[in-house]
Amino acid sequence: MSRLPDDRAFLEDVLAGFAKPQKVLPAKYFYDAAGSDLFEEITRLPEYYPTRTELGILDARGPEIAAALPPRATLVEFGSGSTVKVRRLLRHLPDLRAYVPVDVSESFLLSEAAVLRADFPKLRVEPVAADFTQPFALPAGVGTEGVAGFFPGSTIGNFEPPEASRLLAQFGRVLGNGATLIVGVDLVKDRTVLEAAYDDAAGVTARFNLNLLARINRELGGDLDLASFRHRALFNGHASRIEMHLVSTRAQTVGVAGRCFAFTEGETIHTENSYKYTVESFRALAAAAGWVPGAVWTDPERLFAVHALRRG
Ligand code: AVJ
Repeated sequence: MSRLPDDRAFLEDVLAGFAKPQKVLPAKYFYDAAGSDLFEEITRLPEYYPTRTELGILDARGPEIAAALPPRATLVEFGSGSTVKVRRLLRHLPDLRAYVPVDVSESFLLSEAAVLRADFPKLRVEPVAADFTQPFALPAGVGTEGVAGFFPGSTIGNFEPPEASRLLAQFGRVLGNGATLIVGVDLVKDRTVLEAAYDDAAGVTARFNLNLLARINRELGGDLDLASFRHRALFNGHASRIEMHLVSTRAQTVGVAGRCFAFTEGETIHTENSYKYTVESFRALAAAAGWVPGAVWTDPERLFAVHALRRG
């Protein structure tokens, strides 16, 4: 793949986002090499409970989750990344027909598939390089019966609720009638716990957020002064979401690719939403997208939920 279309999309999104009354940058741009490393670091922070809590649920409830899947299932993972989470399920699924990891990054997808094949020699691994937000076909030969989807990590929380609903409906079309979907969703909880998870004491999330500006400087010839922006994370209770912003600490004008953008003191760039659902609000969202809510597994502290959904 050529880099040019990606760079152009990034440039267009930055210029359009900075021209809005509430300046905004799409969260998908967090994950360049530096940002992906910082996210890995976030998942190990004491305050960032989602990753370790979901892994704990997959370990503790693995046999029950496996039992919710059809026998000899084909398991399709949307946004498979490093396959850390699915490994916890694979242990409990000795009769899986095929595992289909789906990811946009083709080189990463293929290298992870090779590692997985070495670790699970009996498993048929059929990677698909695709953007899971767009329709795509399952590989020929993995069957149309007993298909299950896996979407962990509360990635669903990055989408606006109407978009999240469209995404769940689109997963249904990819997986087909009779499919099962296992989705990890972060739960609504005390705002101090939520805000600490997105504003850690070591400042890793702040570096993750500010890396967006560093990327603009590196890749788009921006002249943003990182020292005059600071990280802010707050829970918006009305919208039931964590919002991340970059706050301009002074009035300033910044340049990106020959264009100028003015900031007043205290003005923010809205960089991410991470929606939080109750068990019931997520079941309602899934039902509106054509799924029948099934079992729900949570940790003892009810920080995180793993839902089983079925498509009639
Ligand atoms: C990868 C979208 C699940 O929302 O918790 C973590 C991203 N942002 N800390 C989340 C993130 C700041 C994360 N997701």
